[in-house]
This record gives sequence, structure tokens and C-alpha cells, in this order.
Amino acid sequence: MSYDYHRGAIVNPDAPKGSLEAKRPFVDNGTDVVDPSRYYSREFMAQEWAHLWPRVWLIAGPRSDLDEPGDFFVFNVGAESFIITLDDAGTVQAHYNVCPHRGNRVVLNERGSQPKFTCSFHSWRFNLDGSLDGITDEESFRPEVLCPRPRLTTVRCEAYAGLIWINMDGNAPPLKEYIGLPPEYLEAYELDKMHVVRHVSSEWAANWKTGVDAFYETYHLHAVHPQTATVMDDLGTQYDLYPNGASRMIVPFFRKSPRVSDQETVDEGLQMMIRDAGADPSSFDGTARDVRPFIQKHKRQSLAEAGFDVDRLTDGQLIDSWATGIFPNVQIGLHPEGAFLMRFLPHPDDPERFFYDTITLFRPSEDPNYRVPDWMGLPKDADLTGEDRPDTEHVPLGEAPQLGLVLDQDSELLPVVQKGVRSRGFRGPLWGEQESRVRHFHRELDRYLAGEK
Ligand code: FES
Ligand SMILES: [Fe+2]
Repeated sequence: MSYDYHRGAIVNPDAPKGSLEAKRPFVDNGTDVVDPSRYYSREFMAQEWAHLWPRVWLIAGPRSDLDEPGDFFVFNVGAESFIITLDDAGTVQAHYNVCPHRGNRVVLNERGSQPKFTCSFHSWRFNLDGSLDGITDEESFRPEVLCPRPRLTTVRCEAYAGLIWINMDGNAPPLKEYIGLPPEYLEAYELDKMHVVRHVSSEWAANWKTGVDAFYETYHLHAVHPQTATVMDDLGTQYDLYPNGASRMIVPFFRKSPRVSDQETVDEGLQMMIRDAGADPSSFDGTARDVRPFIQKHKRQSLAEAGFDVDRLTDGQLIDSWATGIFPNVQIGLHPEGAFLMRFLPHPDDPERFFYDTITLFRPSEDPNYRVPDWMGLPKDADLTGEDRPDTEHVPLGEAPQLGLVLDQDSELLPVVQKGVRSRGFRGPLWGEQESRVRHFHRELDRYLAGEK
């Protein structure tokens, strides 16, 4: 195989220059080998808490999780916890989930709806905007102690592209500058019109970056997920690097890997994908090479009939997975009918554990038979109406996350990788150009840790 790393693979060579689909120019992130201690050392974890997490914009959750004033949810990252609220003025706000009196957690449940928050320790009360509503026995405090007036500590918070973003740093750059993707990139999918149909938070015995790395490339598909070879072109993945650590991979679906010798037969895997896309495999009489244009045409028609504004989306957006990484800890698989948002959340005190937090978003359509693609691992009986926001399913360490075969395979792999990266015999990861997103991510991380950001 010859591989021009300045160019890599291109999914649609006809994509207009400068369009969202077009291959981005080569970014030279060098060839340095990073020290593997970043994957396990407590010192490195402390550095991240000093220079990374408090400074970056984090996706706290989907905007559609807040519907009416009083709705709230909690977002935890490491040892920090935030309450995200929708106040009576319709403004989304974020506060540290910490009582200013003695530091108790103010909200103990994950989400709900209520006009005020009452701390469970001494019943101080707070409004949705974080201001103080009342102090129990206030006359027993000397006035100086309550000056300035205590309140929940509010952090920067913005609702953008259907997502709620927070930032603990008052001096961080504005969100839209930070994201690094072209402005219309996320907005094209209208995530604000989607709602959560499943939310699974599973704990894995690996560093959060071991997690990010594994989901940033398709180089491992042939070895870890061999079943994907007849339906996804791993070697045809287009890797694109954007400013500020953002990146994207377009994984061509409905196209066999060149690693498969039979490129003609529409075998069981492809037939399943065709059915999954809502088409009838028996109405298709071409070879495997003809499936992509067939599905593109079918999807454009069926999505339009189901009420989607498909004119805004390219053929590629309709059928491929545009897995989009937003620095530091999120990847979103973007599709017109739904999105699969994964967050790699650091454990509060163990650098060798993280929470793989996955949110499946679905956009209701006029066609009641419409579903998210099967690979998102949604149970067949999942409620897609959006009327009830499902509770978060918590999966303890060591158990399979029940997100379908592919993700179960990853969950078995990562703890094993984690054991290896902390071995005295490991000298650091040797990233190839199919892993250019991984290198791009770590380069950005290093800029934060070096104080350049
Ligand atoms: S700690 Fe919250 S009221 Fe005392
Ligand atoms: Fe994987």
C-alpha cells in the first residue's frame, strides 16, 4: 500500500474547495513521541486540573434537556459538579454545585424540575439564577459573615448549536472562537431539534485519554472490530484537523474495506445496513460497489419525505459517519436523524479510570418508523417520542456498557491497553498518520500544559 500522508484518504474528491466536506490542508504536528506517564501519573492528572480542565469549554449536555423554566441537570467532571438551570427569563445558567455555607452539594439528583434549590445540610435556599433565596435563622449570623451576600458560584455558560457549554475560566476565549470548527459545521445538524433517547455512563479502567485515542481512528477496526470490514472502509477514512485541537473523521459507510478480497458480493452485513437505512435489499440488484449511490439516493428521498431539510446536507452527510472531535474530551457522531455524543470524563481521583458517557440524540420525524442507525446500539424498544427524558444508566467498572457489539469490544480492549502503557517496557505511543487526530489532540493538550493557551 502506498500512503501519501500529506494527503491521506479523501472520501469525496469532488467536494468543493472550502466546503465542510472538503479535505482540510495538511497540518504538520511532527513526529515526537510523548512520555507515556500522561496516561497514568497522578502528577500529570494534577497538571491537567491546574491547566486544562478549568480553562476549556466543556459540553455539559444537550440544550433539549432543559425545556421549561425550573428544569435542571447536573454535570460532573472529575471532582467538580455543576448545576445547569433554565431560569424564569429562559436563560441557561451554570453554577458550581456547592453550597457557599459549608460546601455541601446542593443538588444530589441528576436532573429534575423545581423553582428553587434547598441545601440538605442547613436548608439555605437558592434561586435558579444562583442567587440566595433565604438563610435559615439568618439573625444568628453576624452581618459581616454574610457580606457580600452568599450565592452559588456561577460559571460561564452558553447554549450554542443545540448544546450547553460551560467554562470555569473567566478569561478563556469566547466559545465560538474556541471550538475551532467552521461556524455552520455543528449547526447543520440542528441538534437543538433532537432529544435524548438514551444516556449511558459506564466506568472504564483506563485514562480518559486512552479513551479519546481509541475513538479517534479507524486504524484498529480490522483487528478489534473485524465485523465492520464488509460495511465500512477503514482505510478510506478521511482525517481532518481543525484549529484548537478539533478534528473530524469521515468514515465511509456502505463501502467494503479494501482488506476484504471480495469487493462485489452484497453479503449479509451490507444487506443489514441497507435494511437499517430503511431500504429493501431485494430492490437492489447492483454489486457492493453500487450500494453507496443507491443508499445516498434512497436516504435523500426518504429523509425528505420524513420532513427533513436535506437540501442543506451533502450526500456524504446523509450516509457516512462524520465523527467530530471537540477538544478536549468529546466526540460526536453526526447524522441527520440522530447523533451519538461521547464524553470522556476523568475520574475524580484515579488517573487510570474514566467515565465513558454516551448520549444518543434522536430527531423525531413525521415518519413514525424512522429510527437511529442500528450501530448506535439503541435497544429495539427504546422510546423515541422524546416525551420522557430517560434516566442515565450507570454501568459499573468491569461490566460491558451494553451499547452494542462494537463498543463492547472497545470496552474490553481499553483496560488491557491501559495496563501496557504504564509498563516500564513501554516507551511512548508511535502514532502513524491514520492516527493524525490523536497526535493533534495531544499537541493541543501539551499547549495547555505548557501554559501556551
Ligand atoms: S452547607 Fe448548605 S446550608 Fe449549610
Ligand atoms: Fe473501536
